[in-house]
Amino acid sequence: SRPFGYPADDAPLSCGAHSLTKLAKRFGTPLYVYSGDQMLERLGLFQAALAHREHLVCYAVKANSTLAILKLFAERGAGFDIVSGGELERVLAAAPEAAGRVVFSGVGKTAEEIDRALDAEILAFNVESEAELALLAQRAAKRKRKARFALRVNPDVFAETHPYISTGLREHKFGIDIREARRIYAGAKGNRWLTPHGVSVHIGSQIRSAEPFGAAMMRVAKLVKQLSQDGIAIKTVDAGGGLGIDYHAAPGFDPKAKVAEYAAALEGALKGLDVQLLLEPGRFLVAQAGALVARVLYVKRNGKKTFVVLDAAMNDLIRPALYQAYHEIVPVAPRAGRAVTVDVVGPVCETGDFFARDRKIKPIEPGDLVAVLDAGAYGMAQSSNYNSRPRPAEVLVVGREAKLIRRRETLADLLGPEMV
Ligand code: LLP
Repeated sequence: SRPFGYPADDAPLSCGAHSLTKLAKRFGTPLYVYSGDQMLERLGLFQAALAHREHLVCYAVKANSTLAILKLFAERGAGFDIVSGGELERVLAAAPEAAGRVVFSGVGKTAEEIDRALDAEILAFNVESEAELALLAQRAAKRKRKARFALRVNPDVFAETHPYISTGLREHKFGIDIREARRIYAGAKGNRWLTPHGVSVHIGSQIRSAEPFGAAMMRVAKLVKQLSQDGIAIKTVDAGGGLGIDYHAAPGFDPKAKVAEYAAALEGALKGLDVQLLLEPGRFLVAQAGALVARVLYVKRNGKKTFVVLDAAMNDLIRPALYQAYHEIVPVAPRAGRAVTVDVVGPVCETGDFFARDRKIKPIEPGDLVAVLDAGAYGMAQSSNYNSRPRPAEVLVVGREAKLIRRRETLADLLGPEMV
């Protein structure tokens, strides 16, 4: 289920027809390499699993917001889930024709962001508080544009994942208590600038089981029925994102079965309801399609430990440092010999700057290339310039073509906005 492999025994790791050795030579390191083919294949899995119901897959832009990736998805009919004016601008730049397929989530939308989204005539706002709904009504009236909205309800279901990325409990900052929703929809009914359009929910990220998605959707379905009794016809139900991947045993991971199981859980809850189903997957579409390719600068020993120092660092991929996330690391051109136990680290001046700790990997020497796998989601999107490090370049492989979709940053890019 990964698009990276060794085409022959002594061939280097490749993405489609492209060896990572050659791509690294051509574009330098650290380098993000993505398989656009796999991204589209994953999108297709969701679209096929929902074929019997009216649906729209709104790719969660935050997972990887590089323009060429947005364009790739837009061309296959995807919509987008955005959480800022910046992400809206990205969608409009990459695929202006997709503006009507955008949903706008997030707890802190500003008046300016709302205005821009109203003018772009996005599909719907996923509203996260009563105060936000009041602001939306006010901006819509001012601009004389009707705002379609969904309340993002908090279903109070527990989803087993990392505490930083679990969102569906009452104690989290997200959404509106589902017990309050009926009253708020009723209040909005009379406002000529607000159109109650949907109900949305998002319970967290990297959730491996379909069960909590089904449980949340049951509560949403119940609300949709109550609203219909109140004379409010809900057109869309947005199940959010969050379907997890397998960062460990990826070869045994069956994405098609996962998506089918997920779709069945949602469908089970929505049975008999005539609504369009929106999804907001991010990670599942792009994580496994991407690798961060880096060069080994040094191999050093401190006491009992061996450190492999890469030219990539936590500023390029922060997931291990931030969530203790596991990412598999493989040599691009494997050497013969016994596996060694090492820490794989970057050059940033923090102990937390690591990609792996006490990891058994194939023998490795300075100058070798390694690939940090499953880095397509929340990798480049969460990168920074910490330690004044320019961000990596990105390459997208589609069919036989490998295209540079973002050039490496230069030091001039970094210093540009500043004045002495
Ligand atoms: N919709 C909403 C409203 C969200 O907040 C998120 C993610 C998604 C959709 C997409 O979720 P996904 O399908 O990618 O799980 N940086 C963390 C993940 C943060 C997720 C935040 N919200 C990580 O690297 O694991």
